[in-house]
Amino acid sequence: MVEPVVFLDGKYLPLSDAKVGIMTHALHYGTGAFEGIRGNWNADDNKMYIFRLREHYERMLTGAKLLWMNVPYSLDELCQITVEVIERSGFTQDVYICPMAYKGEEGVANLNLRALKDSFMCLAIPFGNYIEAEGALKCEVASWRRVDDTMIPPRFKLAGIYLNSILAKTDALARGFAEAIMLNQDGHVCEGTGENIFFVRGNSVATPSLESNVLPGITRAHRHGTAPDRAGHAGGGAAGGPERALHVGRGVPHRHGRPHSGRGPCGPPAGGQRRHWPGDAATARPLFRHRSREEPQVPALQHHRVAACGRAVDGA
Ligand SMILES: Cc1ncc(COP(=O)(O)O)c(C=O)c1O
Repeated sequence: MVEPVVFLDGKYLPLSDAKVGIMTHALHYGTGAFEGIRGNWNADDNKMYIFRLREHYERMLTGAKLLWMNVPYSLDELCQITVEVIERSGFTQDVYICPMAYKGEEGVANLNLRALKDSFMCLAIPFGNYIEAEGALKCEVASWRRVDDTMIPPRFKLAGIYLNSILAKTDALARGFAEAIMLNQDGHVCEGTGENIFFVRGNSVATPSLESNVLPGITRAHRHGTAPDRAGHAGGGAAGGPERALHVGRGVPHRHGRPHSGRGPCGPPAGGQRRHWPGDAATARPLFRHRSREEPQVPALQHHRVAACGRAVDGA
């Protein structure tokens, strides 16, 4: 495969030429607002379909503002940069696109965000399923709690926050689980380490509300709508505690406009006993309908279409 092309501070470069210094502020302190965006390759029409590109950048730009950053590109320009990264790299497979606005200042021991230079980069890597598993996922309830809004705003993908997810995920993997379910400070189910959680009850689907400290996922909004009475209706402020999830429905983690490979749901939170729930693929499957092959037929998705070697078409 040809070497991927990345965008770094105004230049398109081969990946191996794109470097940052060891004193880069974001490296030391996690001062970055990033995104994770799915590009789903459709071999039938030879195009990459990028899942909700604008929405991801809107979230990134708001997170960047929170970190006192001025990203020197408009929303349209960011989308265009991304399309160009994909085109120049010549990907013909599913990718994961990782743009990041970050404090690129080469300076440590300075905790004043306002005094630090901003940088922006965008890269994409070939990427398949986030969690490789068939059938139900065996999940544990993390002993680490999800960061609270009073600590670091959990509504954006701020780089430093991910230590929270990474600790939980690593613990789960080390103990033989596929994923960890994180509770919030109140002990209510919040989300997975890198995905929102949905509960299937009969014909309805519920998800923890924004007040539970979840990341307001683009997939979550797409699946569920953003109205407060829809999101989180399983249990007021949150979708209920682990016991409630266990008894009322099936937990289904969902990430990045594309499901984990297991078509069944994840098991419910297991509490101290680490139980896991056998899946029911039939119930979970409707959530996972828009695989890449089907996406062009779903106008509401507002994808950015990228011809493999051609112009980008905004929207679907
Ligand atoms: C902690 C966390 N929650 C939820 C999500 C799902 O967000 P989205 O649907 O916008 O990809 C992600 C995505 O990476 C995440 O990292």
